[in-house]
Amino acid sequence: MPAPRTVLLTGAAGGVGTQMRSLLPGYGYELRLFDVAPLEDEPAAITADLADRAALRRAVDGVDAIIHLAGISLESTFEKILKANIEGTYHLYEAAREAGVRRVVFASSNHAVGYHPFPPGDYPLPADRLLPVDVPHRPDTYYGLSKSFGEDLAQMYWDKHGIETVSVRIGSCFPEPTSVRMLSIWMSPADGARLFHAALTAEDVGHTVIYGSSANTRVWWDLSSARALGYEPQDDSERFAADLLAERGELDPTNPDEMYLGGQFVTKPPIWPH
Ligand SMILES: NC(=O)c1ccc[n+]([C@@H]2O[C@H](COP(=O)([O-])OP(=O)(O)OC[C@H]3O[C@@H](n4cnc5c(N)ncnc54)[C@H](O)[C@@H]3O)[C@@H](O)[C@H]2O)c1
Repeated sequence: MPAPRTVLLTGAAGGVGTQMRSLLPGYGYELRLFDVAPLEDEPAAITADLADRAALRRAVDGVDAIIHLAGISLESTFEKILKANIEGTYHLYEAAREAGVRRVVFASSNHAVGYHPFPPGDYPLPADRLLPVDVPHRPDTYYGLSKSFGEDLAQMYWDKHGIETVSVRIGSCFPEPTSVRMLSIWMSPADGARLFHAALTAEDVGHTVIYGSSANTRVWWDLSSARALGYEPQDDSERFAADLLAERGELDPTNPDEMYLGGQFVTKPPIWPH
């Protein structure tokens, strides 16, 4: 596969999208931007909902690859998650199939496996204690369920249509970790860009699932499938650890709010329509 150059970035107005808009052009990509929220400073951006199949067809036309970030990024009602994340991701893959786009990078989430307890032990954990990438889905919310669906959709579009996907179970991609849990799953924006670049350029990925974090001393999961794509994380959340631990203390492995990978998402009650 020739290295992709023109890349559709859905969810370009969001937190991760905004970071990637500033970082990915440094890797030589030309980004085409898509979001339901207007991007005032980007006149060429496509402002449309993932439900708008005609707009999606225009968006994918002529791109080499897609980074799919758009969607609801927290828990919501099943109806809203269904429309934006489940149907929206389906519409995106259909547009990709129709246009012959060969590679997607899908923003999955730790919440697809959020009910796995975090591995106990002293940091850094030995390799055999890290959560493997092939554990069963254990979604912690309708949101996490939509990411499990997205990973399965990606698998089906690979098996049936030959569209390759790297599904990235992103931990927390923010400029700094702001909780003790995030010390384990934080992905610096610079490492996020390194990871997306690796996911766009690695050869023969089929459908590959990876965890998305920096090389944190307190990492809970196995980054080897990400490293196998050429990802070399450069950051470690440990420089933030002393302050966060002094303020909040270590995680309590007996507290349901703190004992699982998904953190407080596991104890969130379902949100009903209102
Ligand atoms: N930020 C993280 O740490 C993190 C962690 C795990 C997974 N993710 C996933 O990564 C992606 C980006 O996360 P983020 O933090 O930037 O989220 P965000 O909420 O800041 O951005 C999401 C963007 O998607 C757009 N969007 C929502 N519904 C849409 C629709 N129907 N059609 C078109 N656009 C729509 C929103 O307008 C928004 O700009 C999301 O899919 C999220 O689930 C993020």
